[in-house]
Amino acid sequence: MIPPAELIQRKRDGKELESEEIAELVLAYVRGDVPDYQVAAFLMAVYFQGLSSAETFALTDAMVRSGETIDLGAALGRRVVDKHSTGGVGDKTTLAVGPIVAACGVPFAKMSGRGLGHTGGTLDKLESIPGFRFELTTEELVRQVQATGLAIVGQTADLVPADKMLYALRDVTATVDNVSLIAASIMSKKIAAGADAIVLDVKVGDGAFMKTLADAQVLAETMIALGRRAERDVVCVLTDMDQPLGCAVGNALEVREAVATLRGEGPADFTELVLDACGHLLALSDLGVDRGEGRRLAEAAVADGSAVAAYERWVRAQGGDPDEDALPKATFVREVVALHDGYVGRLAALPVGLAALHLGAGRREKDDPIDHAVGVVCLKKRGDSVAEGERLAEIHARSEREAAAAADEVLAAYEIGDEPPRSRPIVLETIG
Ligand code: URA
Repeated sequence: MIPPAELIQRKRDGKELESEEIAELVLAYVRGDVPDYQVAAFLMAVYFQGLSSAETFALTDAMVRSGETIDLGAALGRRVVDKHSTGGVGDKTTLAVGPIVAACGVPFAKMSGRGLGHTGGTLDKLESIPGFRFELTTEELVRQVQATGLAIVGQTADLVPADKMLYALRDVTATVDNVSLIAASIMSKKIAAGADAIVLDVKVGDGAFMKTLADAQVLAETMIALGRRAERDVVCVLTDMDQPLGCAVGNALEVREAVATLRGEGPADFTELVLDACGHLLALSDLGVDRGEGRRLAEAAVADGSAVAAYERWVRAQGGDPDEDALPKATFVREVVALHDGYVGRLAALPVGLAALHLGAGRREKDDPIDHAVGVVCLKKRGDSVAEGERLAEIHARSEREAAAAADEVLAAYEIGDEPPRSRPIVLETIG
């Protein structure tokens, strides 16, 4: 193998590496033959110099080859659809999309992850449901999808081990927000998990890794190209993360909001995103419907109660209690009120995500325990009118002290102006 220092140097100097060189480096790292410090230096060189599309594909391919792959389509005898979000604040989309898609008769088997930084993770949200078990073997996953149409599990240790190792290193070396590295990380997991068609929700805004629409477009095009090379259908929806998605931010609070949405009682922006994603997923499935029909089927599943029924069946199948009263509740609930009349001109997502993290809803260190009950509920969102003294948000906390600190952070996230801001849709663009 070419000495890693030589590869680092060439990448540092902006040269293009051969596919075999990238594959060797990644696979040797996973075997333990290359130390963290050299891969960290390589990642920083990539961060500054970028990767060509051939290099990005080579990285993705090597990551897929670092572990086992699953052919879910063959195991289920059906075309399998999957979704993934690049990560945001209040993003509980999978919890609503999964049951709706399953209620429409399309198998939904998803491997989800934990929260990263200020962005929440589906597994953490699911863990707030008492008894819920997400460590299923591949055989159990397949059996459950056959029986109930839906399973959401943690990524197995054998699936893309390179991503686990590289991600942990990126997280502590300030090399997360690079288009090629994010694209390879996400697409390697989706390809290895065996979905035939994938809907990618690329978040854009202050609460997302991609801060601008232009960067999100590049990430979307990169992931679509990786999907095509692996013969998967990929659609990217670029969605607004300049304010939290929906109202709830925090694990059990988000589960409640997802269930309310399955009953047709969810916040408007979140409901729109969920139905849009379901329309895409059903159109990519083997149902033989187009996007419009897919969306209508999804709306009908919400309206006739079959989406909530699918949620309850699924949660029970994974050992959980679907009763909302079983979800943990925080001891202290404190209100954040408007200091004057006006319109919410801005509700920054990042400070709300950080406030929830500081309350204990997320982790500061990799192995920190999280408190599933705590978080923030944003009762007013961009464009809403408010009167002085009216409630803007609720803080759900473990103590008065933590609630007061979070209330200050959340109040600072709100900008109240005299005029309503220009409206901005939740789905900014669809590519693919
Ligand atoms: N989500 C992932 O799975 N990987 C990244 O690199 C960023 C977001």
